[in-house]
Formats: sequence, structure tokens, C-alpha cells
Amino acid sequence: MADQDLAAVVQHSGGSYPVVAGWGVLNDLGHRFADLGLNGPAYIITDSNVMNPYGRTAQRALQSAGIAAHCFVVPAGEPSKSFESAQAVYDWLVERRAERRHVIVAVGGGVVGDLAGFVAATYLRGMPFVQVPTSMAAMVDASIGGKVAVNLPQAKNLVGAFYQPRGVFADVQTLSTLGKRELSEGWAEAIKHGFILDPDLVDVFEEHAESLMDVEPEISTDVIRRSMAIKAEIVSQDERETLGIRILLNYGHTIGHALEASTEYGRFFHGEGVSVGMIGVAHMAQELGMIPQDLVDRHYQLLERFNLPTRAAGVMASDVLRAMSLDKKTESGSNRWIMLEDVGKAVVRSDVPTDLVEKTVRELVE
Ligand SMILES: NC(=O)c1ccc[n+]([C@@H]2O[C@H](COP(=O)([O-])OP(=O)(O)OC[C@H]3O[C@@H](n4cnc5c(N)ncnc54)[C@H](O)[C@@H]3O)[C@@H](O)[C@H]2O)c1
Repeated sequence: MADQDLAAVVQHSGGSYPVVAGWGVLNDLGHRFADLGLNGPAYIITDSNVMNPYGRTAQRALQSAGIAAHCFVVPAGEPSKSFESAQAVYDWLVERRAERRHVIVAVGGGVVGDLAGFVAATYLRGMPFVQVPTSMAAMVDASIGGKVAVNLPQAKNLVGAFYQPRGVFADVQTLSTLGKRELSEGWAEAIKHGFILDPDLVDVFEEHAESLMDVEPEISTDVIRRSMAIKAEIVSQDERETLGIRILLNYGHTIGHALEASTEYGRFFHGEGVSVGMIGVAHMAQELGMIPQDLVDRHYQLLERFNLPTRAAGVMASDVLRAMSLDKKTESGSNRWIMLEDVGKAVVRSDVPTDLVEKTVRELVE
């Protein structure tokens, strides 16, 4: 029977995996594991906000399907994406006598997903790994594609791997307890997917913005599935970001990252930085004659309806530009800009004049 909750199947060098989103999926986790041939025991990694009720629900669902399941709770928040947390999980796995055929399960946002994935990739040289994302950002972005990492004090995501999960199971119902700001920033990534690849999805966002902000079950689940499918398609085509396709997901990210870094990750959520960043590149694309003013206006109108920022007033332009030039070093000296030629058609440009970048950043922070 067709799985009505299936959003996509990711194809990768080592096989494939289902990406699922539905209302109440968490209660059915045991059957999902059985379908994948995973018998456990399962080691659930979750955080202090998500443990009750979702970590517990996942544990019960697995146990009721005859799969032993244990929980490890890290403090909620980005600092848990660290070597110290990974070490604490390793210690717990040693104590529990985890074996290579057992399963690591991430139940939570991107922090838990990246940390649990990093542990799964490294403990016993790799254990099966399942993603159960509970934040919007994790559902439409972080849980798909196999990037796992921990942060170093010097920079975020500096140590990690490409390590694909066996399955991604998102229960959209869990979003009812997510904070409004977290919800908005997650929608920013989903809107980005529409802008780079799916004009119809942008229309849906415009038609249903208020219902999506209220997480109305049917439309939200549908849009999340469509957004997941875009990410799944891109990572299937370019698993390790070597073919110039996966990089399209970085629409809005050059300025976005720089805004986050130049304010010490204290002012903007990631998706908020991306929102301002999309506005910035849309302006640049318009100045370069690639898109009309209407499309720039559509960016503003849509992002504002999701309560997302479109400016970064008060940030120092020089700090943002410095953060961008540091980013540049990792890309052999030139920033590669993802820009639109049309709605749903993104391209990479390496020839954006520096004075246009500077002018755009200045206007965003004025
Ligand atoms: N691997 C990737 O491809 C990828 C992509 C994008 C982002 N990331 C990483 O993901 C992280 C950000 O993810 P995030 O925004 O999910 O952050 P997060 O995991 O910190 O979650 C945000 C907050 O929401 C809480 N939360 C999660 N689900 C909830 C729910 N259903 N109800 C109530 N509260 C809930 C969490 O406890 C946390 O406080 C960053 O570390 C980023 O680097 C990874």
C-alpha cells in the first residue's frame, strides 16, 4: 500500500531512505522501524525541552512494537552540539553496551539531530541512525541530507561527516508546541526552497501564510512534505556538495551567516539571518538586471507575513563585510552568490561586484 505520509526518498551512494511527514507519526514509530528492518535496541538522544512529551512518546511507541528503547537527554540549546556532549553520549552507550547493529535515534531539533548523527557516524565506526525531527528547521532542512557535526569554540560545524540516516520521520503535530519565532525561522528555509526550485510552492506560501503560521494540520503537512521533497531531491543529486547543485540551498546564506557571526550568534536565529540575506541577494539580482522589482517585492511581502526580518538595523556594516570575507577564504577567495533568475530558478554567480555587495549590506543595516 502506498505510504500517504511519504514526502520523498533520498538516493545516495550507500542506498536510499524514506523521508516521511504526517500528523501523529510519532505514535507509529515502531512500525516504521520494522519496515526498515531495524529491531533495536534504540538509543534515543533528545533535549530537555523535547524529552517530555516527545522523547517519551517515541520511547513508548518503540517499546510497544517490541523494540527496547532508552533515552539520553542533553540540555536544550546550541552549546549541546559539542565534543563534551558527544563524549557524554559515548559514555552512556558504553555503559549500555551498545552494539554496531543497534540504532541511534535523534528526537528533537537540528542540535540533537547533528549531535546524534555525529555520534552515530563515529561510535563503533558507525551505527544505524534515524532522524525524528521536531522543529520546523530540522524537518525541512537539517534532518535530510546526512550532514552531521559538532561545533568547536572557533567555529560552528567544524568537525563532522556526511552520514545518511536510515529514515526521517517528522510528526507535524509536534510543531504545536514550538515557539513562534522558531516556527518562523523554519518557514524561512521552506520559503527559500520555493524560491530556488518550486514557483508553485511560493504561490502556496502566499495563499496560506496565516494558516501555515497557525500550523493548520492539512496545509502545513502538505507544505512541509513539498519542502522536504525539494531538499531530498537536491541532496540526492549532489550528496557531498561537489556538483554545484547542493550549494543552491545556500540562497540567502552568505549575508545570513555573516549577520549571525557578526552579532555573535546572539541576535538572529539562523532562519532570520537567511531571511535578511534573501532580501539582500534579491536586491543585488535586481541591480544586476536578473530579476524585476516585483520579485524583490514578493520577497519582502512573503517574509514579512511570516514575521521574518527583512532588515538588520543597527548592525555594523563593516562587521558583516568582515565576516563575509572570512567565509570567502573557505571558498578559495571569492564569494559564490546564489541568485534567482526567476522564481524557482536559482543560479550561482561569482562575478558580483564588491561595491554592489557593500552598498547592499549598508542598505540592509541602515
Ligand atoms: N545538518 C544540517 O544539514 C543542518 C542544516 C541546518 C541547520 N543545522 C543545525 O541545526 C541547528 C538548528 O536547529 P534548530 O533550529 O532545530 O535548533 P534546536 O535544535 O536548538 O531547536 C530549537 C529550540 O526548539 C526546541 N524544540 C524543538 N522541537 C520542539 C517542539 N516540538 N516543541 C517545543 N520546543 C521544541 C529545542 O529544544 C530548542 O530549544 C544548528 O545547530 C544548525 O547548525 C543543520
